[in-house]
Amino acid sequence: MNPSQINIHKKNPSAEDSKQIDDLLSQMTLEEKIGQLTQGHIDSDAPESFEQEVRDGIVGSYILNQGGRALADTLQKTATTDSRLEIPLLLGFDTIHGYRTVFPISLALSCAWEPELYERSQTIAARESRADGVHWVFGPMCDIARDPRWGRVSESCGEDPYLASLCVVASVSGLQGSDISAPNRVAACLKHFVGYGASIGGRDYNATEIPVFTMRNLHLLPFRAGIAAGAATVMSAFNANDGIPAVCDRTALTDILRSEWGFEGFVVSDWDAVRESISWGYNADETEAAQRALNAGNDMDMVSRIFQANLPALVKDGSVTISEIDTAVRRILGVKLRLGLFDETAAPLPVGKKLPSDAIELARECATRSMVLLENDGVLPLKSPPADIALIGPFSTDPVEMLGAWTLKGLPEDVITLDVALRDSLPPGSILNTVTGCPILEEKERTSTLTNGKIVTVGSAEKTNDTSDSIVEAVEAAKNSDLVIMTLGEPADWSGENACRTSLRVSGRQQELFDAVAATGKPIIVILFCGRPLVFPEITQRASAVLMAWHPGVQAGPAIADILLGIESPSARLTMSFPTDEGQLPVYYNRLKTGRSWAADYRDMTREPAYPFGYGLTYASFVYSSISCDGNHASVTITNQGKRPGIETVQLYIRALSCSEGARPEKELRGFQRVELEPDESKKITFALTDETLGFTARDGTERVEDVSYYIWISPDSASGDEITFKKNS
Ligand code: GLC
Repeated sequence: MNPSQINIHKKNPSAEDSKQIDDLLSQMTLEEKIGQLTQGHIDSDAPESFEQEVRDGIVGSYILNQGGRALADTLQKTATTDSRLEIPLLLGFDTIHGYRTVFPISLALSCAWEPELYERSQTIAARESRADGVHWVFGPMCDIARDPRWGRVSESCGEDPYLASLCVVASVSGLQGSDISAPNRVAACLKHFVGYGASIGGRDYNATEIPVFTMRNLHLLPFRAGIAAGAATVMSAFNANDGIPAVCDRTALTDILRSEWGFEGFVVSDWDAVRESISWGYNADETEAAQRALNAGNDMDMVSRIFQANLPALVKDGSVTISEIDTAVRRILGVKLRLGLFDETAAPLPVGKKLPSDAIELARECATRSMVLLENDGVLPLKSPPADIALIGPFSTDPVEMLGAWTLKGLPEDVITLDVALRDSLPPGSILNTVTGCPILEEKERTSTLTNGKIVTVGSAEKTNDTSDSIVEAVEAAKNSDLVIMTLGEPADWSGENACRTSLRVSGRQQELFDAVAATGKPIIVILFCGRPLVFPEITQRASAVLMAWHPGVQAGPAIADILLGIESPSARLTMSFPTDEGQLPVYYNRLKTGRSWAADYRDMTREPAYPFGYGLTYASFVYSSISCDGNHASVTITNQGKRPGIETVQLYIRALSCSEGARPEKELRGFQRVELEPDESKKITFALTDETLGFTARDGTERVEDVSYYIWISPDSASGDEITFKKNS
């Protein structure tokens, strides 16, 4: 399946929609038109704070960060009965990996290599969002994530554009369904357009320097797939690429998004980004910011109010034409019509005290499928759990840490922790001794930085969930146990937006805790909780098993217990490379070969990751044989030589040995198939080598495939397997 060819829900405004929009436009004042281009922020649940501007029609959309369904209904009633033209509000919200039911973070779910889990989880997220008054969610995040120092890799679908595109398409389908006017669907918003993931130094909000060929064949691809899938809206990004803030980037927002891809919806800026185009040193003032952002193709201004304040004068002096204003208004009204907001049927009531059972079951399935088994000396699965288990670490009992970044409606009481899950699932007679060992963070200032020559301490003292020094207690618990399970990682609020790190190690004194427990010589199973690839060589060398659990959501505990006890077999595969050391960064699989790949290592370290893209262990033992390629198809036979059933994710990589538009990566994922095999069962897997499989995007945006020589790999991850050579059309 080639993501760029997918066209599930593309729906242009119908003729009657266009007529209704024309009628409205003919009646609207300039202030009312600019109101449709203005998005406010609901920062209080008091309707009176917003009702007057709604009546005046000078705000057409809000971010519903407070108040939920009750406030949404109140404000919508004001808009549709008390305003002059009765145009409904468009209410948006950051539903990223669930609304009230919190699923694993997106980076985790991408490791399932099952895009349909995005569709199913986003279907529930849409249902819960719409029921609480939200029409439009700011997702899926389509940014390619190559630098784990950047906190927002947690929201991404990893470093590969092919897999990310499939996940984005599935998310759009889950959020929008086949008709976004349905009471359980919402409008999607592809973000952050474009290239935000390439922020220099992995520092959020930083500049990017993305050349055309890389932009075309890496960062744009998930967005192109999302547009083809019918996404209703796009959000422009915070970064400035080659000096142009994304909110003012006409090449991206108009030439590519609209002229090339035919996008019919609207573009909203990111938070206050219209104003930030001034601090970038691009626009001189708010007047210029308003003019250039609108002219570039950014239709709606998120919370800066600069459109509201400056566009009237710009229209009056002719710097902005009324036709430009009408174009943006038309796009926004088109989405409101598609959403059915002009005659909205009441959505079902919001989620009550308990999560629905279908949501809980899916959350557990998603969490189980997203956890990557990185190391296992055979200790897992726990055949017959030992009688005495020590559960040590600050993530064992903390529900909040299971939710991850961007869980604004998630509730700790919805979470089942590992401690609770193990007590429910270990056989009678088992003893589980749970000790925190140390806080997730220590009591110290968050950041001291040299600013203008002075040491400045910023941020408050870091969070700690336990001030007692219980490393000694943890060591005692380990000594008195037959097996230790350790829960380690980084704080949930150390990933997501404005949460970048230079160190990728476990936080606080957790390494000290691990070293002290490891010194007891007891077998240790480490469960890692984080929102990004981490670096943990000392743990790898001494643990019997390492399971990457990410931030797994409300069913964290049951999912981990299912895997530890062998009720479920791990099948997840990494979608971001795990660096051997921070000094390598950025490290990713789809790198260029270079002219001297024999000289690519550092003096003091390999350039290879600790764990490569596509890597993950199972409880089975898969053997690849009879790999062949006839130029039109490549195939392999997979055999499970293990004693347990398992799911193998068979991956197809290609390399074009030459390309007239520029060197292509030394490996590119172009297909995968998941196959479940019983012990001793074999299956032949075949991949078609179509033009889409082999092709690339030229600098002018056209799809190309060249009659050159290729390497093909069929393998369990991006670092293994032997290449097969073939020449296209030979
Ligand atoms: C934030 C984020 C964006 C989010 C928006 C609204 O700054 O960059 O992803 O959707 O503002 O909260």
